[in-house]
Amino acid sequence: MLLRPLGEFLLKKLPVRALRGVIRKLIGGMANYDRKDRLYRQAKSDGYRSRAAYKLQELDAKVKLLKPGMTVLDLGCFPGGWLQVALEKVGRGGAVVGVDLQPVEPVTVGGRSAVILLGDLYEPTVQESVLEQAGGRVDVVLSDMSPKLTGVRFQDAARSAALVELALFFSSTVLKEGGSVVAKVFPGNECEEAAKVYRRAFEKFTRHVLDSSRKTSKELYFVGRGFRGLPEELQAQVSS
Ligand SMILES: C[S@@+](CC[C@H](N)C(=O)[O-])C[C@H]1O[C@@H](n2cnc3c(N)ncnc32)[C@H](O)[C@@H]1O
Repeated sequence: MLLRPLGEFLLKKLPVRALRGVIRKLIGGMANYDRKDRLYRQAKSDGYRSRAAYKLQELDAKVKLLKPGMTVLDLGCFPGGWLQVALEKVGRGGAVVGVDLQPVEPVTVGGRSAVILLGDLYEPTVQESVLEQAGGRVDVVLSDMSPKLTGVRFQDAARSAALVELALFFSSTVLKEGGSVVAKVFPGNECEEAAKVYRRAFEKFTRHVLDSSRKTSKELYFVGRGFRGLPEELQAQVSS
């Protein structure tokens, strides 16, 4: 007896309610998103290329990775905020190499310039150029790489997780023993898989949500310290 009215209720009401919820979420998200927020404006006045510069500063204040004299790789470096902070931290005796799909204007801090390469890090030829420019094993690999977001959640999460793996696999070919990696992550099941590999590849593995990330962003950062090498079963994947 009750089934019919219930069915009618579900058909008529539920889709509308669900739709209302989605619209409310969308409007809420848009209202909360302020592209030119406080850190955006601060970056402009401090001379940083992007508000992302404060994320690296915040993270480094927590985990203290970047030191004078170090060689640092910055994967996904456009427009260059992290390159600026890395150059400040490594000083005159250090070196910073960046790579991005997009061209980056030259970055110089205190008379020292970053070496900047244009290309897709998935490409073996680009990886070779980065290795060549690094001139040997490096102390720290930073990856702020993020995919072009499509809005399709599972697709975005999968692409993001693939970049987190790329950062680790590439790092394994270029990182000194004991070196460190930072990688941006968007939460999801695939990233949990990547976290398991990071945990095995480093003596210390931590994850960080940053105050300087946009309030609307779900991003977090994986930090691996004390590189031990990739788990054995994965090493073959890198060399193949
Ligand atoms: C959030 S931005 C980086 C911001 C940068 N850390 C800064 O401080 O200005 C992410 C960058 O990752 C780059 N990226 C994504 N996939 C890449 C790939 N496969 N190879 C190289 N760069 C990539 C994008 O082109 C984009 O510029």
